[in-house]
Amino acid sequence: MVDKALGTGGRKSDKDLKIRVRSAKGRKVSSTKWLERQLNDPYVARARAEGLRSRAAFKIREIDQKHKLFRKGMRVVDLGAAPGGWSQIAATATGSTDANPLIVGIDYLEMDPIPGVILLQKDFTDEDAPAQLIAAMGGKKADLVMSDMAWPTTGHRPTDHLRIVHLIEVAADFAIDVLAPGGTFVAKVFQGGTEHELLHMLKRHFRTTFHAKPPSSRQDSAEAYLVAKGFKGDVPRETRVEDDEE
Ligand SMILES: C[S@@+](CC[C@H](N)C(=O)[O-])C[C@H]1O[C@@H](n2cnc3c(N)ncnc32)[C@H](O)[C@@H]1O
Repeated sequence: MVDKALGTGGRKSDKDLKIRVRSAKGRKVSSTKWLERQLNDPYVARARAEGLRSRAAFKIREIDQKHKLFRKGMRVVDLGAAPGGWSQIAATATGSTDANPLIVGIDYLEMDPIPGVILLQKDFTDEDAPAQLIAAMGGKKADLVMSDMAWPTTGHRPTDHLRIVHLIEVAADFAIDVLAPGGTFVAKVFQGGTEHELLHMLKRHFRTTFHAKPPSSRQDSAEAYLVAKGFKGDVPRETRVEDDEE
């Protein structure tokens, strides 16, 4: 049940206006806390007001404002696109249209169409996913590969950690395959989730790599974004493996 807690004396302060959620029978404490946080989150309200599908949309917008990710006419791949906030931001920033779509998104969840975005409903780790993404781009190279993917957690920390690292590695490998020289890779990572090996590998292929923590990413969350800019150009897979084993 949702309560608007009113202060005494009829005057409402910001604190008084906070929406409190009473725990309901059958609802876990963590779900109650999540719901309370959502209802009081200014980014959630702003996303709704701007017609954006996720509060996550602000994260890529803020990273772009600080680190200049987007430009008109560029091609973008959005990995883990649902419900579509990042794709919406990318479509607007690149000027993508249905007549000339520049954005391709993939998620195993179903999504409502987004103007200027080609959406694939598929698990990105499926063997044929990279080929399908490339086909959707008409065989052209991408200028930006961005990944906000995360597996649902199992609660078993070592398993969750390994799954996250694996997902980021597959995304990074894909980026190296499809990016045009000068391209950018952005991926959600978790503290302790960006392995030295992955960073080392990215540093070989990109001129700059760094972590970004946009203001809309909750301070108490371990998430951050790994940004790799200035792709140096494709390298045959065999060479890549040898490089990484040095
Ligand atoms: C945090 S959400 C992305 C939010 C999105 N950036 C937005 O702004 O709307 C993460 C998404 O990654 C997707 N995902 C996780 N693993 C995936 C995989 N292996 N293949 C495709 N999508 C995946 C999930 O289904 C989920 O929709």
